Amino acid sequence: MSKIASNLQIDSARLWDTIHETAKFGATPKGGVRRLTLGPEDKQVRDWFREACETAGLEVHVDALGSMFGLRRGRDMTKPPVGLGSHLDTQPTGGKYDGVLGTLAALEVVRTLNDAGIETETPLCICNWTNEEGSRFAPATMASAAYAGEYTTDNILARKDATGVTVGEALDGIGYRGSEAVGARKFGAFVELHIEQGPLLEAEHKTIGVVDRGQGIIWYDGKITGFESHAGTTPMPLRRDALAALSEIVLAVERIAKAHGPNAVGTVGEAVIAAPSRNVIPGEIAFTTDIRSPNSETLEAIDRELREAMAGIAARRRVEIGFEAIWRKPPTIFNPKLVDAVENSTKALGYSHRRITSGAGHDACNLATVVPAAMIFVPCKDGVSHNELEDATQADCTAGANVLMHTVLALAGVAS
Ligand code: GLV
Ligand code: MN
Ligand code: MN
Repeated sequence: MSKIASNLQIDSARLWDTIHETAKFGATPKGGVRRLTLGPEDKQVRDWFREACETAGLEVHVDALGSMFGLRRGRDMTKPPVGLGSHLDTQPTGGKYDGVLGTLAALEVVRTLNDAGIETETPLCICNWTNEEGSRFAPATMASAAYAGEYTTDNILARKDATGVTVGEALDGIGYRGSEAVGARKFGAFVELHIEQGPLLEAEHKTIGVVDRGQGIIWYDGKITGFESHAGTTPMPLRRDALAALSEIVLAVERIAKAHGPNAVGTVGEAVIAAPSRNVIPGEIAFTTDIRSPNSETLEAIDRELREAMAGIAARRRVEIGFEAIWRKPPTIFNPKLVDAVENSTKALGYSHRRITSGAGHDACNLATVVPAAMIFVPCKDGVSHNELEDATQADCTAGANVLMHTVLALAGVAS
């Protein structure tokens, strides 16, 4: 690599300003961001991203699921590009960094290479994947999963949000149903920078997490059917209370995940009483469950034990419990050569680091099934994410973007 390229640093202030500039799209009063997939704020940030890519000289392409790709030409256009990026959608009460850092750091890498006049050997492609979060439309990371061939495009287009709007309708609503076939754009490698979203790096005072694994995930849709009746007149032994059953389910999820700890987690994150009323015993409740572990056998054991626990609760409380797995993501093992490439650039830049398992799902986990992929983590304050309080330092974001740039340069090569 040329001396210029090996000493190159991204523009920290520009990256920081860019992160805060986009945080206005969907800004919440508590300092977070609410930018639900394919909603009006997602359109605003997409339009902004498209313009920023074009200004940086990138050719922007959009696929049939709305994922955005900004192509920077390389010396050898017969080679597939190195992909880098993440997502710009957020949780309903999300923060400023989850996904945003990786996408805007990818843009910053391109801007830095442009300023330094560096041409890479292979092209680069910066990505904004549609619906990483999975909170408006399930499952999470659906567009990169379709890219990797796990679902057909039509299957994803037909998924509905809670109000019955399909992904296809939502894409048309904001004008982001692109013409490129999903999966048609091939990468030679893919690298994603992200905040850790957990407490390990901060606790150990490490700047960079070299991610070598990702947890497996199962998502469930659950439904409890009991019987609505009068809160004043129905004797306790005669009740078929769906909410009392849910309470037992929540505690069972917690107990079973803890019993498989420390490398297992389980959460009931949503529960909706169909017709809530203070003086009606709840008769119908929809709920969701999320379980994760880096180990497939542990995940399967939790699945089995949860089903047994639910059968017991249903029988004892005389309610029906439907519990359907709607998403199964096996654990990810990132490509060892790419993981080494991340570690080598981290060492060359002199940042403290450790190997780490991703607790969250990421688009890179889907990409890893079809192309060598890797991830870079930086610390976030108190390990908090999926919260408006999510925070990270400018120094750590800058370090992560530098590792991203030097990993990408090592993979793409610098044209002489
Ligand atoms: C994505 O944010 C996930 O890990 O659920
Ligand atoms: Mn994310
Ligand atoms: Mn997230």
